[in-house]
Amino acid sequence: MKLSEAIKRRRSIRKYLDKGISDEIIRKIIDSARYAPFGGPLKKSCQLWEFIVVRDKETKEKLALDYEDRQFVKGAPVIIVVCADKTKDPEYKDWEITTSLAIENMLLTAHDLGLGACYVTTFIHHKKHKEDREKLIKILNLPKNIELIALITIGYSDPTEEIEEKELRDIDEMIHHNKW
Ligand SMILES: Cc1cc2nc3c(=O)[nH]c(=O)nc-3n(C[C@H](O)[C@H](O)[C@H](O)COP(=O)(O)O)c2cc1C
Repeated sequence: MKLSEAIKRRRSIRKYLDKGISDEIIRKIIDSARYAPFGGPLKKSCQLWEFIVVRDKETKEKLALDYEDRQFVKGAPVIIVVCADKTKDPEYKDWEITTSLAIENMLLTAHDLGLGACYVTTFIHHKKHKEDREKLIKILNLPKNIELIALITIGYSDPTEEIEEKELRDIDEMIHHNKW
């Protein structure tokens, strides 16, 4: 698939077929994350991404918490939990920026491989959901130095899912030249 096509056709997929995904495919998806831009010098220590591959049914059920609109995560054959190791580069604080770039690579690669995926929040910016974030950290047994960034649900798309049309803002409305 052409990159431009993958970028334009990828959508968040929340309904999956009951079909497993091989380790090889999961590795390909995570491999694409390794090529994302990161802050700092071109050293391995600046590549602070960490991934937990969740296939265990009980853990997936726990990760759904008790939000009605989040129950779809239980139906995903695989959830990749994306984290950042804060101790890899103590100078670098923008964990969310570099992991988000890695995540976009993963979402596009999943799409390119014929899979559907969805970015699921871990309440980073939601003070009122602090307790739920703590629950996720506990379920995943994350050490203190590991920042939880996102859950990525992945599976073969169920064609019965009704995907709402997405209205895009007009490009000319967004572009400013030289100054605002
Ligand atoms: C930071 C972030 C958090 C998100 N959290 C959730 C979530 O918790 N649950 C969910 O169903 N979708 C979540 N999404 C997916 C968005 O709802 C989705 O990307 C958006 O509606 C645009 O649709 P598209 O991905 O199909 O283009 C999240 C996306 C981002 C970037």
